[in-house]
Amino acid sequence: MFSWLAKIAAAFLGLRHYARMSRDEGDGDALLWSRDLVRHAAGEYSFAVVQANESLEDHSQVETGRDATFVGVYDGHGGPDASRFIADHLFLNLMRSVRESGTISEDVVRNAFSATEDAFLAHVRRTREIKPLIAAVGSCCLVGIIWKGTLYIANLGDSRAVIGCLGRSNNIIAEQLTKEHNASMEYVRRELMTLHPDDSHIVVLKHGVWRIKGLIQVSRSIGDAYLKRPEFTIDPSIPRFHLPESLKRPVLTAEPSICKRVLRPQDRFLIFASDGLWEHLTNQEAVEIVQNCPRPGIARRLVRTALHVAARKREMRYGDLKKIGKGIRRFFHDDITVAVIFIDHEHLLGSDSAAPQLSVRGFVDAAGPSEFSMLDGV
Ligand SMILES: *[C@@H]1O[C@H](CO)[C@@H](O)[C@H](O)[C@H]1NC(C)=O
Ligand SMILES: *[C@@H]1O[C@H](CO)[C@@H](O)[C@H](O)[C@H]1NC(C)=O
Repeated sequence: MFSWLAKIAAAFLGLRHYARMSRDEGDGDALLWSRDLVRHAAGEYSFAVVQANESLEDHSQVETGRDATFVGVYDGHGGPDASRFIADHLFLNLMRSVRESGTISEDVVRNAFSATEDAFLAHVRRTREIKPLIAAVGSCCLVGIIWKGTLYIANLGDSRAVIGCLGRSNNIIAEQLTKEHNASMEYVRRELMTLHPDDSHIVVLKHGVWRIKGLIQVSRSIGDAYLKRPEFTIDPSIPRFHLPESLKRPVLTAEPSICKRVLRPQDRFLIFASDGLWEHLTNQEAVEIVQNCPRPGIARRLVRTALHVAARKREMRYGDLKKIGKGIRRFFHDDITVAVIFIDHEHLLGSDSAAPQLSVRGFVDAAGPSEFSMLDGV
């Protein structure tokens, strides 16, 4: 009886906590949204997003379950359609896949990515009649799942996950858990040339920037249908998306890089962020900020630090930058999404009723119940 009441009270307090608006808290920046500190099964997390362009292309979510946590960062390009679609479908596809197999594994995660890609391509097929450029909309996709003490990371594109680990003398050390799929990296160009030995123009250097087929920098994504299947070729009257010859095979793939890691006591926290953050902060700078500053609002602090650097590069102050409205802001910085997930080892292995099963979406001020509840009893 008591534990039942306690659960209701905890859920109620949790919901009340989530319902609080957190846009613009103390920063005076109307484009900055955050959740300062929230419970999850294995500790606490902090979440922040800043918008740059007219429409927010970064979508993101943190889902808390009784004994699992899910983080997704989806950095869209060409419009928000693909990143929003991923936020609406990927986690659900993952929960279905976990339910079917009764557990989580690298294959289960891979299946959820490919189901999401297939569903998005079907969406493109249905909508391109009225919206032809949907075939050129895509998104990077970074996902982290903590499940019974094990971390799974799956990544497409150039968002990044970094873990902060305590070293021998209690110093914090950054370890990068993802590799970027960006044609500016030599290993990416080499991989593409190996996959397309008959295509001497698979990567092209134009104005000092390497692009796949001279068109795009990321080599893996959800969407970008016109670079995956000939049926999605865009009308040649739009030269921006014109391929010199028809596709023989996909030049972009939706095959994620996946890593699995059993979390160790020295693994203290994870930072998941879109490339907008990493453009201005090194991995080591970011983990030192997280290690040395108070937990509440730490994701917002990382975003704000990146904005200070972005402003300084243009010989401005953040105080002046934050008065600039969306759209124009895109000339100073990209959309930035940051989720900092603290791993508190005393919570890591037990189920914890104090963490409500909630879904929190980047830049959405109301939280809802999480689809993690689909796994109750699995
Ligand atoms: C910003 O948004 C506009 C209109 O939505 C779009 O045309 C443009 O490509 C975007 N800019 C960048 C750099 O993403
Ligand atoms: C790819 O990497 C380059 C160099 O680091 C960077 O400037 C660019 O923004 C990245 N591409 C994308 C699509 O983010």
